Amino acid sequence: MSQKARKILVTSALPYANGPIHIGHLVEYIQTDIWVRFQKMRGNQCIFVCADDAHGTPIMLRARQQGIAPEQLIDAVSIEHRADFAEFNVGFDNYHSTHSEENRFFANTIYQRNRDKGHISSRTITQAYDPAEKMFLPDRFIKGECPKCGAQDQYGDNCEVCGASYSPSELINPVSTISGVTPEQRESEHYFFRLGDFESLLKQWTRGGHLQKEVSNKLDEWFAAGLQEWDISRDAPYFGFEIPDHPGKFFYVWLDAPIGYMASFKNLCARTDGLEFDDFWKPGSDSELYHFIGKDIIYFHALFWPAMLHGADYRMPTAIFSHGFLTVNGLKMSKSRGTFITARSYLDHLNPEYLRYYFAAKLGSGVDDIDLNLEDFISRVNSDLVGKVVNIASRCAGFIRKRFDNQLADEVSETELFNLFSAAGKTIADLYETREFSRAVREIMSLADRANQYIDEKKPWVMAKQAGRETELHAVCSMGLNLFRLLIGYLRPILPATAALSEAFLRIEPLTWDALSVPLTGHRIAEFKPLMTRVEPAQIDAMVADSRQNLEATPSTRRAVGALADDPIGDSIEFQDFARLDLRVVRIIKAEDVAGADKLLQLTLDLGGTTRNVFAGIKSAYTPAQLEGRLTVMVANLAPRKMRFGVSEGMVLAAGPGGKEIFLLSADSGAEPGMRVK
Ligand code: MSP
Ligand code: ZN
Repeated sequence: MSQKARKILVTSALPYANGPIHIGHLVEYIQTDIWVRFQKMRGNQCIFVCADDAHGTPIMLRARQQGIAPEQLIDAVSIEHRADFAEFNVGFDNYHSTHSEENRFFANTIYQRNRDKGHISSRTITQAYDPAEKMFLPDRFIKGECPKCGAQDQYGDNCEVCGASYSPSELINPVSTISGVTPEQRESEHYFFRLGDFESLLKQWTRGGHLQKEVSNKLDEWFAAGLQEWDISRDAPYFGFEIPDHPGKFFYVWLDAPIGYMASFKNLCARTDGLEFDDFWKPGSDSELYHFIGKDIIYFHALFWPAMLHGADYRMPTAIFSHGFLTVNGLKMSKSRGTFITARSYLDHLNPEYLRYYFAAKLGSGVDDIDLNLEDFISRVNSDLVGKVVNIASRCAGFIRKRFDNQLADEVSETELFNLFSAAGKTIADLYETREFSRAVREIMSLADRANQYIDEKKPWVMAKQAGRETELHAVCSMGLNLFRLLIGYLRPILPATAALSEAFLRIEPLTWDALSVPLTGHRIAEFKPLMTRVEPAQIDAMVADSRQNLEATPSTRRAVGALADDPIGDSIEFQDFARLDLRVVRIIKAEDVAGADKLLQLTLDLGGTTRNVFAGIKSAYTPAQLEGRLTVMVANLAPRKMRFGVSEGMVLAAGPGGKEIFLLSADSGAEPGMRVK
């Protein structure tokens, strides 16, 4: 590239460390990753950091409920989050945690600098307190009757029945959802960030081209309503950082969460030669800083965050890019409909490249919600990716192998067509740069149509049968593969895994944007292997079935579980449900790696006469050799499920947090294959 390389630091919002990554989150991580991969392909220095957001009351309570320390919970979740992102090819340069020493340092620094400039105030507030749990209660942990319409079981500060909003202290017969006791009102000293001190700075900044238009408009409403002081402290017990000069008080999770961006970057600097923290965070630096976020957290990123940074003498973001929310089949994701799909259950059934493509095909630069329509998903992936793009390679590669010993022609025969494809790179790059991914995809797919049309017109399969047309055949197939190479280059930020397979097939270096304009001639390619298979509706059905949870718990169990209803322990099941499980002791008679799956092993299980084929995600803890001969317990009457790698006929039971710690029965437990467990 002739321009000077830019220095760009990019973040995605930090996911909470108390639950799994789901496909809604993935809209953001995939959107950011596509943009970052594009910047890297352009030759820019682009660094992508993220972290788990590990602090706060919900995480503290979830850990307590599981009987583990919060540190243990966040460590276990971190392993899962990282694995999910890695398998979706979200290529963070660093993934850290807000519960880290770097983050404590920057949280203290930002707090102290703001305090020393007079931007922190303190006063006593009255708040609901749970005398049984000896803790102050966040609004979402209080339930009661609506003061307006009397509806039962309403949370915090608004009524789902009549829509009234009120303060939690107005609820009638309030109860703590943690202990079930009636909360008291207690006083406590709190610390506030004086956002109003930054009003004129923020008014200027929010209109200075750093935000999308819809977002600036929203901010005007907030300015009109007046900027309130922001409560940045919480009382013990709290899982977070203690405020240095106020023992027993902790920084509110949202104070140190965005600071986690800096902490993650600092952590990367410490192990990267030549990467300097100040180059990216000092005011006036020539580097760029972008935050990708969902529209629900704009207030924190467009008001508090720039103000805190400015008050602490750090640079403010170059821009904040907000996106909308994901719906599935037009509705909010729902556990009972099976559309609350975790990253993991998606990965159990489908190729991550499909979802990356589908989201790209839907994402624009605005904050509109995006819909994943499962039928549309199948047809777009199959018709665009498999039917149009990959098809070009498979249509040409066979002849190049059989007739020309995998050698491409010495020149491209249709310069004009090649130049048309190459020139489109400018438009496509502009669309990626401005996050108009859906329009980029449309451009690329119309080129793919053009490439297929070229092959249809030339009919290489006819040439192949006619004598004396060797040169023509060679030219057409070489041309076709060159067009394929350009298409894959343009799709590379969206489809990194398919691009890598294609680069191996073409025997070329990882594609850069600049390299694309030079055709591939007089070059020997490798054997063609299928690059992508079609999505089968059965895979979607199985994924939805896996995600569907029966939420018909009795009202009493629901109330007891209260605000923690989405806890991993989940709603209770009736004894009859339990009795339907056929649990058997089985012997693992064969264990094998599964090509293309880094977590799964394929197990052949002996039930005492009959055998079953089961895929189990236990590769992190065992090698196949360690498993053969061992006993385990399986759910023998689970309906067979079609997975990406084959049909799984049951499920193996194991204990442990995952990773290296997955425990099966030992080989000599005295149990016999086929024995019922109950
Ligand atoms: N921990 C905070 C962010 C702190 S950033 C300093 C948080 N975490 S989150 O796990 O709830 O969400 C992480 C990101 O995913 C947010 O940007 C959020 O908007 C986005 N999404 C969560 N659910 C989503 C959908 N259903 N659809 C699209 N994006 C969604 O907020
Ligand atoms: Zn009401």
